[in-house]
Amino acid sequence: MNTYSKLIRPLLFQLDAEQVHHRAIQLGQLAGSIKPIRAIFSSLYSFSDPRLQTEVCGIRFSNPLGLAPGWDKNGRAINVLSAMGFGHVEVGSISRGPSLGNPKPRLFRLPLDQALVVYYGLPNDGSDAIAARLKRLQLSIPLGINIAKTNRGVAAPPESDDEVIDDYVYSARRLKDVGDYICLNLSCPNTRNGREFFEDRQRIGHLLQALSELNIRCPVFLKISPRGGIRRIEEILQAVEGVSWVSGFVFNAPPGKPNCLLTPRRFVEAMPGAVTGKPVERHINEYIYMMYGLMDRNRYRIIGSGGVFTAEDAYRKICLGSSLVQLVTGMVFEGPSIAKKINQGLLSLLERDGFANLSEAVGTGSDL
Ligand SMILES: Cc1cc2nc3c(=O)[nH]c(=O)nc-3n(C[C@H](O)[C@H](O)[C@H](O)COP(=O)(O)O)c2cc1C
Repeated sequence: MNTYSKLIRPLLFQLDAEQVHHRAIQLGQLAGSIKPIRAIFSSLYSFSDPRLQTEVCGIRFSNPLGLAPGWDKNGRAINVLSAMGFGHVEVGSISRGPSLGNPKPRLFRLPLDQALVVYYGLPNDGSDAIAARLKRLQLSIPLGINIAKTNRGVAAPPESDDEVIDDYVYSARRLKDVGDYICLNLSCPNTRNGREFFEDRQRIGHLLQALSELNIRCPVFLKISPRGGIRRIEEILQAVEGVSWVSGFVFNAPPGKPNCLLTPRRFVEAMPGAVTGKPVERHINEYIYMMYGLMDRNRYRIIGSGGVFTAEDAYRKICLGSSLVQLVTGMVFEGPSIAKKINQGLLSLLERDGFANLSEAVGTGSDL
């Protein structure tokens, strides 16, 4: 146990989860804006080794571990996150219009399960404001931009297919030259349009067709729901077949609550939202393995997230087929040194298994 788990986490876990998240972003933004503080973070938390470097879709990453979207939704703390040893940061989800998200409370911890229950519903400052903010930054690590449909709240009138698709197109136009890659979130478990809209695969086709007009030059990933088994993965692969600029896939947390939770059901049922962290790890790993088995590996790459807390967890996702790995919940539970610990551990695992570098390990395993 480190100082974070022994002293800081017990204190933080007494406080409201969203308040802690909000304050952490504020502190992160401040720390990232002061060069000497960034340097201190770097000396404490960075770890580099050429064997961890990897090139994915033409982008060079100093290590495979990134911060998944949802933590730095508005791109405020990227500088400090890069000093904390992450090899990339994906900001967002960002939507066309600013959104307040879902009603509070909307973030809960399940310490027994090493999990969170998330019901944020995509609050963010909107693509205009965030694009302006990101354009001013000079970053030392690759930046991913996660785009989703604006959440206008449950009381908003239903929108037509064209309106939903225009929402994505607007954000993609504003953000396409701001980051190193784009991830289209087609699967937010906590909003009406996020959850079900793209279950109709023709709508994925319509969205990609509309986006084709934008001539997006950076790699584009699709964040999809880990549901529907092999048939759904085949459907997704068919939907992207003729679209040369789609570069790969990420699996979101599944909607609802898994059956395996240790936290008593009566507590969990009172929390709206989807579970992230350890309880969804194996389920998402199954989808990563299925996708890797079915996709054209010369064409697509997988970014694996879901329950990554340790180097072994990250390595498992790499061996199942992920070229990059991301986390959010692991950082909430393990603290700011998580990237360093995972990267150090990954190196030992590569050495143990006789791989000269990270890419050699991708897709070499089947243990879930
Ligand atoms: C607090 C929180 C907010 C999230 N918000 C988003 C989001 O806005 N967009 C998105 O694509 N994923 C979002 N996610 C999902 C994460 O990016 C990730 O896919 C998921 O949490 C699984 O990884 P983890 O177990 O390491 O947290 C969020 C997750 C958490 C914990």
